Amino acid sequence: MRTTSLSDIQKAREIIRTEVHNTSVDYSRSFSRTAGTDIFLKKENEQRTGSFKIRGAINKMHCLSAAEKAKGVIACSAGNHAQGVALSAQLSKVKSIIVMPESAPLVKVEATKDYGAEIILKGQIYDEAAEHARTLSKQHGYTFFHPFEDPDVIAGQGTLGLEILEQIPDMDSVVVPIGGGGLISGIAIAIKALRPKCKIYGVQASRVPSMASAFTNKKILTDVACLPTIADGIAVKRPSQHMYDNYISKLIDDVVTVGEDEIAEAIVLLMERSKAVVEGAGASSMAAVLSRKLSLGKKTCVVLSGGNIDMNLVEKVIDRGLSRHGRITRLSVIVGDVPGTLNKLTGCLADLRANVLQVSHDRIDQGVALMETRIDFTLETNSPAHIETIKTALTKMGVRLLEK
Ligand SMILES: Cc1ncc(COP(=O)(O)O)c(C=O)c1O
Repeated sequence: MRTTSLSDIQKAREIIRTEVHNTSVDYSRSFSRTAGTDIFLKKENEQRTGSFKIRGAINKMHCLSAAEKAKGVIACSAGNHAQGVALSAQLSKVKSIIVMPESAPLVKVEATKDYGAEIILKGQIYDEAAEHARTLSKQHGYTFFHPFEDPDVIAGQGTLGLEILEQIPDMDSVVVPIGGGGLISGIAIAIKALRPKCKIYGVQASRVPSMASAFTNKKILTDVACLPTIADGIAVKRPSQHMYDNYISKLIDDVVTVGEDEIAEAIVLLMERSKAVVEGAGASSMAAVLSRKLSLGKKTCVVLSGGNIDMNLVEKVIDRGLSRHGRITRLSVIVGDVPGTLNKLTGCLADLRANVLQVSHDRIDQGVALMETRIDFTLETNSPAHIETIKTALTKMGVRLLEK
């Protein structure tokens, strides 16, 4: 397979220029303070379709012949690639078919349909859907859009690297989430050609560390254990030998992994400090920076590669993040079942400036004696120290705290 060069990326830049946003690279005072170095955010979460994927898809679409365009294109994805391919096809007035596993979330199916794609739900898992997409591609002559192992797709993703250097020419390090490796490879080809001393770092979820383990062991391992992750966009279980041999092993300075809590925390902090809605995969780069796993230069660009996060997940992630920082807490107490007790408790909480978000009473819990009642509070608090002060005050009032 042909490999991608700087000139392919420069051509792609001209091709996609009018259709794709040149997303901003914003300096973040707050993250710079935390990381101890200058941090810039490349906001591909604000890209059309909500991720960088549109770059590669538009470039690939442009490279097709008129005959190929007339037949249509096909891809397999339940994520950002699906939307990128669908929109690029719509813009070029080309028929697109996206195969998704039957378990694909309805919101993703609808979003992709809205870009004009025909959706086929097939198979229980991604591999079965991908096999079906390849079969249809052969049967009907549709061009198959691979999500990463394609020189034109990589060239499109590499335009992000050109933009970063145009915006901050003396960038010292760039941190990029890795799934199959198309994004980081494109960025690395561009940046290493124009500014060889700039370090390029990759990040994977520690629950799917396939490329990270290939990087560490200097070869692809076939038995890497993988688990579900909130960074679903980078959950590629089997790395490609072609990507590893031609790009990752040659151009990337290090690949690290981040845990689920680290990713969740990065999602919350990006919302809170930068008002940026970023999905798990897209926030993994920030998670690696915050956990200080990388040796960063003076100026670092953190690629926020996508913003398509499920709103139900946002709620859970925020709750867990707030709870970890002691800004929300659940306390269960056992008290005597006499009138006025709840009033006294809430009075104490009010004095300590803890805001009651939720309260529930339980008299029939098996662990509660007949003359007692259990009260569960969800409180808005300031810090772990604040929570300890509240617990001490409640204990002094004669309340029995239930440890969780
Ligand atoms: C948000 C996001 N970030 C990063 C990636 C990783 O891209 P690649 O597979 O090219 O490494 C993906 C892939 O779908 C993604 O959706």
